[in-house]
Amino acid sequence: MTARVSTGTENALELRAVSKRFGALAALSDIDLTVQPGERRAVLGSNGAGKTTLFNCITGDFPPSDGAIRFFGEDVTGFPAQERIRRGLRRTYQISLLFTGLTVLDNVYLACLGVSRGRFSFLRPRRSSPLVATAEDLVDTVHLSDVAETRVSDLSYGQQRQLEVAMALAGAPRFILFDEPAAGLSPTERRELVDILTGLPAHIGYIIIEHDMDVALRVSDYVTMMHNGRIFKEGKPAEIEEDPEVQALYLGGDDSA
Ligand SMILES: Nc1ncnc2c1ncn2[C@@H]1O[C@H](COP(=O)(O)OP(=O)(O)OP(=O)(O)O)[C@@H](O)[C@H]1O
Ligand SMILES: [Mg+2]
Repeated sequence: MTARVSTGTENALELRAVSKRFGALAALSDIDLTVQPGERRAVLGSNGAGKTTLFNCITGDFPPSDGAIRFFGEDVTGFPAQERIRRGLRRTYQISLLFTGLTVLDNVYLACLGVSRGRFSFLRPRRSSPLVATAEDLVDTVHLSDVAETRVSDLSYGQQRQLEVAMALAGAPRFILFDEPAAGLSPTERRELVDILTGLPAHIGYIIIEHDMDVALRVSDYVTMMHNGRIFKEGKPAEIEEDPEVQALYLGGDDSA
């Protein structure tokens, strides 16, 4: 293995000709995607467009059938998911993976524990430890300090989505993939989530999958539109909003938001 020398100019994420087939189905075809460090990217597309599959290939949950993926300049195409996490990649899932019987702070503490390599207890220490302090900071970042000691099962749906953002922030990530974090949220909960995402530290880049065009345009610097496993349009939020083809597609049927 050769040592990687960081030039400081490399992309956060670079996909070249990535394809993913499930039997005869081409879930992703020939995807080229470049995301800069600190960039916030929205991915939009109808159900089955291949958005979650794109995340699975980037994280290593499923390897791509073809193509190459670089993360901060390093070819991670064949790396297991855990190796990508070690390099600062995180994701959230479309389906919640919270420990509903534990408190907010315990969930975040366990997430921090999961990505730390130190010797820490599975039981959250009563006295303040560095990892508990980190977990408390993350709970604050997602506006949940008031319910830090509340059990997850007693949180609102919107608060649970906020908690998932905190868990993705464990272990100082460089890049996060958010899979539809705003799905099912009320307008008020959406505003809260938009505030949290736009308020994240500037060096943390992300891709957010989002069906709601308004949310997507507010939380991103750049937008990628997918359809049938392909990228069919990319642009700045204002360009996407005014694009007749995009308008036709969005006014023409996708009402899943
Ligand atoms: N593990 C799998 N095995 C077989 N087919 C799959 C698998 N995962 C996804 N697919 C198929 O790949 C295509 C893309 O699915 P994907 O979940 O990536 O879409 P999506 O854009 O995330 O959709 P949604 O908006 O509904 O979440 C779909 O046709 C889906 O049925
Ligand atoms: Mg999906």
